[in-house]
Amino acid sequence: MDIDKLRADFPVLQSSKAIYFDSACTSLKPRAVIDAEMDYYTSLSACAGRSHHTLAKKTEEKFAASRERIAKFVGAKPEELVFTKNTSEGLNLVVRSLNYSSRKKVITTPLEHHSLLLPIMEQQRRGIVKMEMLKVQQDGTIDDTSLSTIDSSTALVAIHHTTNTTGIRAPLEKIVKAAHDAGAMVLIDGAQGVPHSRVDFHKLGADFLAFSGHKMCGPTGIGCLVGKREAFEKLDTFIVGGETVETVSLQGVKWKSAPKRFEAGIQNYAGAIGLAAACDYLSKVGMQNIEEHEKKMARALLEAINSIPNSTIYGSATAQRSALVSFNLKGVAPHQVALMADSLSKIALRSGVFCAQIGMGALGAPKEGAVRASLYLYNTEEEVRIFAEAMQKIAKLG
Ligand code: ALA
Repeated sequence: MDIDKLRADFPVLQSSKAIYFDSACTSLKPRAVIDAEMDYYTSLSACAGRSHHTLAKKTEEKFAASRERIAKFVGAKPEELVFTKNTSEGLNLVVRSLNYSSRKKVITTPLEHHSLLLPIMEQQRRGIVKMEMLKVQQDGTIDDTSLSTIDSSTALVAIHHTTNTTGIRAPLEKIVKAAHDAGAMVLIDGAQGVPHSRVDFHKLGADFLAFSGHKMCGPTGIGCLVGKREAFEKLDTFIVGGETVETVSLQGVKWKSAPKRFEAGIQNYAGAIGLAAACDYLSKVGMQNIEEHEKKMARALLEAINSIPNSTIYGSATAQRSALVSFNLKGVAPHQVALMADSLSKIALRSGVFCAQIGMGALGAPKEGAVRASLYLYNTEEEVRIFAEAMQKIAKLG
């Protein structure tokens, strides 16, 4: 993996000269993705699946081919992939549409992003589900012994692949097995997992996997919900409208099957085409290479922060991590650290509770949260060295 060569693919790195350590929020986009998205608007700009003119047919072809390439990237079949706006929409779709008439329990963890936790809490507020939590240890790892809470009253186990607060992966093999042994379904929030390592939907064995395009070098506004056919059949409709139906009469509606049943209205064709280009780009670099690179970056980051007196790192330093570290420097507020890093050395960090307020609390963070550095394929050891220097200076203010 030639990082210098690869960095030239990302126009923002050239134009901003920033040290971009905020890829868990959204990643940078390579030229190939920008061009693919632009090409839809300049050469097609039509809708798919409705009209029969040439531009529409070509759009339909490109849209279908994009679905196929993205599905392949996560080891799924095209008919198992529903386009959404982002991960949040995919998670809401499952949690809000699942039938809870015979089983009411939804099991999750305190580490989840608000995009997963809030739909479950909303369903609980309406009296539709009963939420229970797997236990999380102080080091941010899941206590396996709490898997015994998954039982025959459990409808759904909904859990992250990788958290956005520590970059630590959940023990998904064990969780999927425990859920399926109990006859429960599994929904995985793959937002921070799919961009950073090879995720194979069928090997994982989960029923649903949601992820976003913009965190994996793709465009904003496009995401995917991947699901097994029989799992989609257990969902009620969500957002309905044009192209979700076979026939409509005032007496009743005959719905299409997934994925179309869940893709109401004109779709984000440019986004889907851009996301397929992002999958091709990542495949060309190699997900294994990206994972190895991130392991190196994670070690360098942990070392840099550990060497600062009185710094706190959240989550186990020895667990398998993507290149993401949340931390605090004693006596300097997280937002202050991020602002100073930006003005001192053009380092883009995120600070706060990362839309995971309960998780940050469980990890022992103060109410103002922490600072987060999240790296990706285009970051270098030299950037981590500059980051380390900046943090050493900022820590002295505390
Ligand atoms: N979920 C994104 C993050 O963690 C926005 O920053």
